[in-house]
Amino acid sequence: MTDSCLTVSGRRKLSGEIKVQGCKNSALPCLTACLLCEKGRCRLKNCPRLTDVENTAEILETLGCRCAFCEQEKIIETDAENVFGTAIENEMMNRMRSSILFMGAMLSRNGEADLGYPGGCEIGLRPIDMHLGAFRRLGVKIEEEGGMIRCRARSGLKPAQVPLLCPSVGATENIMLLMAKSDGETVIRNAAREPEIVDLQNFLNAMGADIRGAGSDVIVINGVKRLRGAEFEIMPDRIAALTYMSAAAACGGKIYLKDVNPEHLSICLAVLRDMGAEIKITADSVSLEMKGRPRAVKRIKTLYYPGFPTDAQPAFMAAMTIAKGATVFVESIFENRFRHAPELVKLGADIDVNICHAIVRGRECLSGADVRAFDLRGGAAMVIGGLIADGTTCVSGAQHIERGYEDIAADFEALGADIKKNC
Ligand code: EPZ
Repeated sequence: MTDSCLTVSGRRKLSGEIKVQGCKNSALPCLTACLLCEKGRCRLKNCPRLTDVENTAEILETLGCRCAFCEQEKIIETDAENVFGTAIENEMMNRMRSSILFMGAMLSRNGEADLGYPGGCEIGLRPIDMHLGAFRRLGVKIEEEGGMIRCRARSGLKPAQVPLLCPSVGATENIMLLMAKSDGETVIRNAAREPEIVDLQNFLNAMGADIRGAGSDVIVINGVKRLRGAEFEIMPDRIAALTYMSAAAACGGKIYLKDVNPEHLSICLAVLRDMGAEIKITADSVSLEMKGRPRAVKRIKTLYYPGFPTDAQPAFMAAMTIAKGATVFVESIFENRFRHAPELVKLGADIDVNICHAIVRGRECLSGADVRAFDLRGGAAMVIGGLIADGTTCVSGAQHIERGYEDIAADFEALGADIKKNC
């Protein structure tokens, strides 16, 4: 993969207005769900143009589902009437984590799925044991051999109660995709409650499914016989919105974000207010004004939704590097999600990392340096570090950022930052 980089000249206040992109982590499962549609076409509106979305569309194409992207209107249209594929090559599976959702979608469509293990950001072990355990319980025969997973459900799915050991987003979505078309009632207990799960439920229901309870920890899937084409609008990306807000909280200034659902951000808005930001919300927008340096917040612990999102931890850590006081970050979802911390230290940040927690002692300023993005959200944190720092910061590995942000450089430029893309 080619290495791309971003050059950031820091120490500017942020001000201006941007529209927040559609949500990556909703677009990926919804796009995968299009495979379930035997009659008619699906249209996903507000679909962000990201490498992960392109890779998902490429997998769909190889399975026989046609995909057309209308860039201007951010719409992707799919036609899955002639799906024939039941296998995905290892290389494609490896490009992203959400490729594992094709396991549920392919089994639902054709009763079989041969695929490798999923890739994605290296932020922890990220096993798929809960996906496999739930699928076995639901009647899927699974053999794992030589790095491949061979799944068969030809003798029929068996709706059942499925308790999850922890509220995994991916496992919850995979079960919904597997069982939307089935004969009977499946109940997921200890389901993930993330807003992206609600989006997937709403899209599947628009296609004719009968699923309720998403947003709570019990999801009831009443299997239906078939699903039809539907049009659906992807929710706004809460993590992209938080990236811009934490940057403005660190750099100072006043920003206005359109197409945001503030209900999805409540914990983080409380943290930003504790940091000293003045925040105003409407039903679909947020404005944030910050005067002076942010205040540190004693402890930020990542948790499952509605707790503080692990995906926002790196951006908030970058912001806290210049806060007045010290903040302890506790990462409780992924084992290896502090790889951005040593890179922030290269910019002059004072951070001590101790396995699952990091202590950030705020400094008055940082100074530009060459740093690397090792994963998507850690990469966004590097950009924020560069915006805070004096002088120029080069962020290499920016291709990781492109997996989740349509154009982070253009967005920050629209907010008054000086940031350039170069390969
Ligand atoms: C989703 O990943 C998101 N990805 C991640 O966003 C996000 O960080 C994560 O949920 C948590 O919110 C997508 O939606 C595509 P999980 P997912 O299954 O589904 C453990 C980003 O930056 N677990 O909820 O992979 C797992 O190791 C990305 O946009 C098992 O042990 O996350 C983790 O500790 C990164 N066994 C915890 O559960 C399993 O079978 C939560 O993972 C599955 C998960």
